[in-house]
Amino acid sequence: MRVLVLDTVDSTNTYALRHFDEVADNVLVAAREQTSGRGRLGRKWVAPPGASLTVSLAMSRVASGFHAGAIAGLAVLDMVREAVPGFDPYLKWPNDVYCADAKLAGILCEGRLEGGKLAGVVAGIGVNVNLSPADAARIGQKATSLKILAPEREFSPGQLERRLAFFLERWYIKYGCNREAVLASWRGENRLIGRDITVVGPSGEALSGRFSAIDADGAMVLETASGRRVFRCGDVKIAKGFSPQG
Ligand code: BTN
Repeated sequence: MRVLVLDTVDSTNTYALRHFDEVADNVLVAAREQTSGRGRLGRKWVAPPGASLTVSLAMSRVASGFHAGAIAGLAVLDMVREAVPGFDPYLKWPNDVYCADAKLAGILCEGRLEGGKLAGVVAGIGVNVNLSPADAARIGQKATSLKILAPEREFSPGQLERRLAFFLERWYIKYGCNREAVLASWRGENRLIGRDITVVGPSGEALSGRFSAIDADGAMVLETASGRRVFRCGDVKIAKGFSPQG
């Protein structure tokens, strides 16, 4: 997979959606700086230049946004495990990458529609690479970075992009051969399954219960005191000091 590096762009997701046919399936769009980076649920994604990886992959051969997110999430985990061995990153549904109780990376999947039908998905990935503790403290939720995890190391966004492109291609090929195996790996990395959590839904209401499963579509199944609820989007809240080991 080729990496296309842009100096400055509004958002790599916007770029990949705009140039979908040119970049789909084999070009990872990367930017050194985004002027209007987007996060999930209408939030902004702010990344100081040089401190983050901001990339997007347009995929024309995925069945849904959840599937694109699974490919992206698994690839980010591989990249992080290779870059900082010894840490235990995991996925927090749908596709945040966490280390202990702090967010290391986020993924935003956006569909490309043609004639009202889903013709592809762009998975945008933001990884905190060289963020300092002060940068991380300015983010509205608990965040970490590769540099915070391994302060003695120097991280090059360019090199990490190439490794991420490699892992993305590998998971995408695997998905093409055996979709269920990829989704099973994705479920396996979602360490919150079986745990008691609180979800804030798209309308802002908070609901607590046990995260019992990820269903066949990729949605989260929550068993609450008043019955089963299925979430297709939302924010899973974890307590400060959360440990993925339980
Ligand atoms: C989230 O956790 O809210 C998702 C964040 C996704 C950020 C990335 S950075 C590259 C790509 N371009 C964007 O505008 N957003 C995604």
